[in-house]
Amino acid sequence: MALYTEKVMDHFMNPRNVGEIENADGIGEVGNAKCGDIMKIYLKIENNVIQDVKFETFGCGSAIASSSVATEMIKGKTVEEALALSNKAVVEELGGLPPQKLHCSVLAEEAIKSAVKDYYDKNGIEYDKSQFPADHDCGACHMV
Ligand code: FES
Repeated sequence: MALYTEKVMDHFMNPRNVGEIENADGIGEVGNAKCGDIMKIYLKIENNVIQDVKFETFGCGSAIASSSVATEMIKGKTVEEALALSNKAVVEELGGLPPQKLHCSVLAEEAIKSAVKDYYDKNGIEYDKSQFPADHDCGACHMV
């Protein structure tokens, strides 16, 4: 059996929504201290709906495929729906990832959460802090 599904390969070879959004409403950046990979997500939000989303990932193929598919999954969705996106859902959408690569999909979930948090902070929107358990503003996570 091939290590990667066709969908993973497709999103790795032709990633969707790559780039940067100027004047993004929310920007999230997370890093995996272990492998040194970094993912950045930009959100354009209007009326609580994600109008546009772009990503830049400096990382492995699974991280690129995860971010690509995750951006497709949240485009046109509400902010709350984007927040609810789990790495499990991303992996399911990709048709699976090898066990040693599951952590790469976590970056996508965390980058989106971090971008939403940035949007909330910038706009003075109240939120339940427990929704963001992993505080990736810590220095260790940015050590690359
Ligand atoms: Fe680092 Fe995949 S090996 S995100």
